[in-house]
Amino acid sequence: MSKIVIISGSPSTTSRTDLVLRFVESLLHKKGFSVDYISVPDLPPEDLVYARFESPAIKKVVELIENADGIIIGSPVYKASFTGVLKSLLDLLPEDAFRDKPVLPFMVGGSSAHLLAIEFSLKPIINNLKGISTQGIYFVDSLIDKENSDNPIKETDCELRLQTQLQELINAIETKKRITKLELSLV
Ligand SMILES: Cc1cc2nc3c(=O)[nH]c(=O)nc-3n(C[C@H](O)[C@H](O)[C@H](O)COP(=O)(O)O)c2cc1C
Repeated sequence: MSKIVIISGSPSTTSRTDLVLRFVESLLHKKGFSVDYISVPDLPPEDLVYARFESPAIKKVVELIENADGIIIGSPVYKASFTGVLKSLLDLLPEDAFRDKPVLPFMVGGSSAHLLAIEFSLKPIINNLKGISTQGIYFVDSLIDKENSDNPIKETDCELRLQTQLQELINAIETKKRITKLELSLV
């Protein structure tokens, strides 16, 4: 069974980003994936603020990422970028934490004005951690129904966009697995 790690990077306790990512988690379960869900604000704040690389909670995150076949990383747009709390976790990961892993970036913004935050903030850091970004997906607040945790996405075509991007991630994971198997058979 393939493993996917979801990293949810909003500090808000009623986060739209988190709501969509929990929905994504349920979709992945239905597709037979094992999912580990990392909510950054649930990590010990002092580990993040004091950059405790060796803390048990941070080591556990590193281990989950290491064992993942694919990653989904989500953040709201804060000041045209991803959030500071997410950065405080990413700073504690090994420099090649995402090496060769397919990574789906996801962002939610107050408006479409910062649509390119995915390209200019999230994708560069995925690349820095040696991951392979898929196209990614950006939603505006108005598309997310905070009262409907079963399916918080208001418009069918947006849900379809999400499903398409998820499938892209799944295809990338399967391709990567096939290549690794082939490489091992050649050794
Ligand atoms: C501190 C802060 C900064 C924000 N900066 C931006 C921004 O630069 N561009 C934008 O489109 N939305 C911005 N927003 C709006 C959020 O991205 C948006 O409301 C998002 O849905 C919040 O996600 P969350 O509910 O998961 O926390 C900002 C919100 C906050 C609280």
